[in-house]
Amino acid sequence: MTYPDVRPRRLRRTPAMRRLVEETKVAPSELILPMFVKEGLAEPRPIGTMPGVVQHSRDSLRKAVVEAAQAGIGGIMLFGVPASKDPAGSGGIDPNGILNVAIRDVVSEVGDATVVMSDLCLDEFTSHGHCGLLAPDGTVDNDATLAAYAEMAVAQAAAGAGVVGPSGMMDGQVGVVRRALDAAGYADVAILAYAVKYASVFYGPFREAVESSLVGDRRTYQQDPPNLREALREVALDVAEGADIVMVKPALPYLDVVSAVRQAVDIPVAAYQISGEYAMVEAAAANGWLNRDAAILETLTSIRRAGAQVILTYWAVEAARLLRARY
Ligand code: PBG
Repeated sequence: MTYPDVRPRRLRRTPAMRRLVEETKVAPSELILPMFVKEGLAEPRPIGTMPGVVQHSRDSLRKAVVEAAQAGIGGIMLFGVPASKDPAGSGGIDPNGILNVAIRDVVSEVGDATVVMSDLCLDEFTSHGHCGLLAPDGTVDNDATLAAYAEMAVAQAAAGAGVVGPSGMMDGQVGVVRRALDAAGYADVAILAYAVKYASVFYGPFREAVESSLVGDRRTYQQDPPNLREALREVALDVAEGADIVMVKPALPYLDVVSAVRQAVDIPVAAYQISGEYAMVEAAAANGWLNRDAAILETLTSIRRAGAQVILTYWAVEAARLLRARY
C-alpha cells in the first residue's frame, strides 16, 4: 500500500455513499420519447422487432402523450406512418397527412406541458423508402429534397410542432428549414438537427416500425461509421446554418462522437438511443441474459456521461419512473 493509505473503495462502501459521489445523473426532463402513429389504425399495433413499442392509432397516441407528459419526460418525437406512399412522399407535406394531423392532436391535448417534436424526413412517406426525392438516375437529389423539406417544416410548424427534427442528412437542410420557418412566421420553432447520423445497421428494427420499403441502403447520405472528423464538420455546418440542438445517432456505439461533439459546441447536444440499441437489450432481457432495468439505466447514464444532455429513448417513460424511484 502507498502512504497515505489511499483507498478509493471508501467512497463505494454503501449505496448512500455511492449516490452522494455520483458524477452523472439522468433527469426525466432530459428524456424524449419517440412515438409512431399510423394512419387508419383503430387500435395500437405492436411492432415485432421492438417489443413493448407500438404503432399508435390517433386515439391511443393522445392518451400515451398525456401519460408521457405526466411522467415528467422532456418531450416526444413523432413519426407518422401513412396508409399509402408515393415517390414524392407527399403524405409528409400534406397538412392532412398523418404526421401533421397527429401533431395537431397531440398539441391540442398537452399544449406546452411537454415539448412536441416531429421527425422531418421523407422516408416514412416515400414508396422507394429513401429520405429524399430521386433523380431520374435513381440517386437521391439533394436540392430537390431540400425544397420538399422546407414545405414539410412549414406544415409541421403550422400543425403546432415546437421543434422540428430534420433527419435526412441532405446537405444544407438546416439552413433551408430555418429560412423557410422564418419566412412563414415560425421564427420560434426550434431545430433539433440530426447533425451526425451514421449509416448504421442498428436502425434495422425501426424499419418495421415505419413499414419502410427501402431497398438498398442510405450510404450516399448518412455518414460512414469509421469517421469522426467528418462528424465534427457536419456539426459545424449545422450550427452555422442555425441548429438549436445538435444530435448524434446512434448513441451507444458512438459515445466517442458524442463526447467530441459536446466539446466542439456550446449548444445542447442530444443523442438518439435507437431501435437496435433498444432491441438488443430487450432481446437479451427476454432470454434472462441480463437485468433489463439495470441495463436501461446504465446505458442512459453512459450516454449522459459522454456528454448528451438530451436523450431520445424508447424507454423514456419507463426510465423516468425508474429514475424517480432511485433519487
Ligand atoms: C429517418 C429516421 C430513421 C430513424 C430515425 N429517423 C431511419 C433511418 O435513418 O434509417 C431511426 C430510428 C431508430 O432506429 O430508432 N426518418
